[in-house]
Amino acid sequence: MAKKIAVLGTGYVGLVTSVGLADFGNTVVGVDLRQDIVDTLNGGTPTIYELGLEDYLQRNLATGRLTFTSAGGAAIREADIVFLAVGTPPAADGHADLSQVEAAARSIGENLTAYKVVVTKSTVPVGTNRRVQQIIAETSGATPGEGFSVASNPEFLREGKAVQDFFHPDRIVLGVEDDNARRYLEDIYRALNLIQTPFVWCNLETAELIKYASNAFLATKITFINQMANLAEAAGADIHTIARSMGMDGRISPKFLHPGPGYGGSCFPKDTKAVVATGDALGVDMSLIREVVHANNEQKRITATKLVRLMGGGVAGKTVAVLGLAFKAETDDVRESPAIEIVQELLRQGAQVRAFDPEGIENFRTAVLGEGPFGGGLDPQLRGEIADAAAQRLLYCQDEFAALEGADGMIIVTEWNAFRNLDLERAAQLMTGRVIFDARNVLDPAQAQRHGFTYAGVGRVAPG
Ligand code: UGA
Repeated sequence: MAKKIAVLGTGYVGLVTSVGLADFGNTVVGVDLRQDIVDTLNGGTPTIYELGLEDYLQRNLATGRLTFTSAGGAAIREADIVFLAVGTPPAADGHADLSQVEAAARSIGENLTAYKVVVTKSTVPVGTNRRVQQIIAETSGATPGEGFSVASNPEFLREGKAVQDFFHPDRIVLGVEDDNARRYLEDIYRALNLIQTPFVWCNLETAELIKYASNAFLATKITFINQMANLAEAAGADIHTIARSMGMDGRISPKFLHPGPGYGGSCFPKDTKAVVATGDALGVDMSLIREVVHANNEQKRITATKLVRLMGGGVAGKTVAVLGLAFKAETDDVRESPAIEIVQELLRQGAQVRAFDPEGIENFRTAVLGEGPFGGGLDPQLRGEIADAAAQRLLYCQDEFAALEGADGMIIVTEWNAFRNLDLERAAQLMTGRVIFDARNVLDPAQAQRHGFTYAGVGRVAPG
């Protein structure tokens, strides 16, 4: 029989999970404390920008299998399965802030009127599912495995490809402690079993660590290729030929070997720091990941410094077009985006900045002002100073060409398709200067040179 599911949290993970599980035929209620979010979602409009999500949302609302509510208690009481998909933002000490997870666990305990399986989707440090189990047991008086079961089901959704990743995952990881939980989870994920998705069954701690190990490894791979690109650049070698050749070795794989201005987003920066913090707490040396965190911050700084150098060693009074503010293409998310560091440095050094991003301008604006959920991206000490400079010298433009008008140079920070196919002839006409720093290696260097630009990429040799 189709299970009734409550999903607590309607962020990237919660919303995609709600929509996806409803599409599998389950009855799903998504819970958010904010009534305005609930109303928007019930009206069929996604509260995040995610490719394909709107269609799936509307389709499943129309079947009646999917609804959203702010009445969390009732949703929990009526559910057979409760997913925890609340936020776990980084706390100041690098640990994940688990206050929302703990509050949700208490609420589940208070509303445990019948047996339920509680599934953690949020990325949580190893040991958190035990803590959730303990909180529910204490709040409800029920025994784990009898009155309720706890399971860990980490997500591997990429922003911008989250819908695709939900329906075609490489694997489903399920940490369980008893057969009941296993049966419930098999039931709701039946659709994936039918397309032969591998299911990895393990204990709670293993499931929790699989997520961190995967993200920390990918962050390490990117950091490796970024440093190798810096070396290739200094040595006169071409990083793309190096990466392609490395990728031909089946043990390495060609994916996640694209150099750039450093990784950003809501996951890699947070999860790498959390792995280090967990290592510290358990007395285990995590020096490799610690170095990755450091090297990635450096890569952002190196990118900003290189831009200034390419602009002649100083940018005071010069105009720089910044193309791309989101941390990667196909998202409006600017959290930990290299663009923050770059724009901050340009403003600090007295440049005029003309910025454009197809989706990320609103979030960037709040980040620069130090407001809203993305305010954490800015150095708090500099926030006032930068916000003042931004008010006078940071202009958000309506498209890439508006941003290029009168610019002495441009930097491409995000690999949006629109920038890959940039009309360089028009760019040359609009710009005052002729500098391109392609921090994502999306342009053809030879073509840029044919249009009279001084071109620099990352780890690429400029054609003779
Ligand atoms: C990442 C993981 O890829 C997902 O599997 C995971 O579920 C998710 O985190 C999460 O923990 O929720 P996401 O942060 O959306 O997903 O984005 P990615 O596509 O992995 O890119 C992360 C960063 O690495 C971006 O800044 C991107 O520009 C950068 N990157 C990626 C590179 O610089 N080079 C590459 O070759 C690949």
